[in-house]
Amino acid sequence: ISEPKVDPALQLDAPEASPSSSVYLSLVIPTFNESENIEAMIELLSKLLDQALPGNYELIVVDDDSPDYTWKIAQEMVSQYPQLRVMRRQQERGLSTAVIRGWQVARGEVLGVIDGDLQHPPEVLLQLVAETQQGADLATASRHVEGGGVSSWSVVRRFLSRGAQLIGLIILPGVIGRVSDPMSGYFLVRRSAIAGKTLSPVGYKILIEVLGRGNIGRVAEVGYVFQERQSGESKVTWKQYVEYLRHLVRLRLALSPFGRFIRFGFVGLTGLFVDMSVFYLLREGLQLGLTRSNIISVELAILNNFLWNDAWTFSDISSRQQGWRQRAKRLLKFNVICLMGLILNTLIVNFLFNALGMNQYVAKLIAIAVVLFWNFWINLKLSWRV
Ligand code: GDD
Ligand code: MN
Repeated sequence: ISEPKVDPALQLDAPEASPSSSVYLSLVIPTFNESENIEAMIELLSKLLDQALPGNYELIVVDDDSPDYTWKIAQEMVSQYPQLRVMRRQQERGLSTAVIRGWQVARGEVLGVIDGDLQHPPEVLLQLVAETQQGADLATASRHVEGGGVSSWSVVRRFLSRGAQLIGLIILPGVIGRVSDPMSGYFLVRRSAIAGKTLSPVGYKILIEVLGRGNIGRVAEVGYVFQERQSGESKVTWKQYVEYLRHLVRLRLALSPFGRFIRFGFVGLTGLFVDMSVFYLLREGLQLGLTRSNIISVELAILNNFLWNDAWTFSDISSRQQGWRQRAKRLLKFNVICLMGLILNTLIVNFLFNALGMNQYVAKLIAIAVVLFWNFWINLKLSWRV
């Protein structure tokens, strides 16, 4: 297959496949100088998948123009393995972009990646496939669950690996904490979970990118023992550690709740408008009492805000939890939190005005700001929790 046009945004579209093709799994094998491994790799995987998904899978080797002709060896196997496709990249370089480029030309409903050096045991693939068939959005092989491990790593390497994971947990707990082995390069993901998302090619660790930017609901993990390399050599150097840190920081900034907060504040303004106009109508039009008018208008504003926040501010989260039960639960929590905010607001205004002698309008402004933060954070943590 030819290399897709080099565009900086690595977006994934819906499959362009013709309706007649029914590919379930597209498994990308990124390679660089794996001439001694690639044949065995393709043979083993084909054998397994011909059994499990006869005719419904494709293997996509993405090779970066290896000087040892890995791409050529793979290309020569295509006639014998009709499910095999080979991309020889002559412009772009790097493991992560190789994986994403492979996915961009993939036709499967489920996309995956496996190392091309036999360090990832091929048999585990069947368990991963089974997990996706049972509804997991992401199925990843892990060295740190039951049945997992590393064969003979030095203490130093184990320490570095766990240290990197710990740093990740500190910078990005919501992403790194979702799996036991975030460094895994052996996983499957449902296409719909990452379609339309822009994946940044900065990191070596593509799983982190998928977890961070994808719409991943259920995650499944399968234990595996990371095998020793039989032939060829690892491409990992200290540079990958620096890239990993850059990757974490970049994702952290991209996922920071700032944009959400702006939307939340904007929705708050529409709520203010609803509150005021309903209050006016009830007082002037229906001549209702002050308290009664206030309760009704506040409640309607809360309802208004909930609907907008659920459909817009937190749409990524609510789209994953769509049942009416879950929606009602969110509404209830939102309602209670906002009413607590209202009480908080009153207390702050009273305190600033009566105890500190502050100007009442300044006091009110401060109270609104504090309650906005309160409402945002508590709702983020409780109502639209991931
Ligand atoms: N196309 C392409 N371009 N492939 C590459 C490149 C590249 O620049 N760099 C590495 N690869 C391929 C290798 O040929 C191999 O098939 C796979 O990517 C993994 O590279 P290794 O160099 O063997 O990495 P490793 O064994 O040290 O690290 C692995 O272990 C991690 C677990 O800690 C990688 O698989 C990670 O993905 C995995 O998470
Ligand atoms: Mn390797």
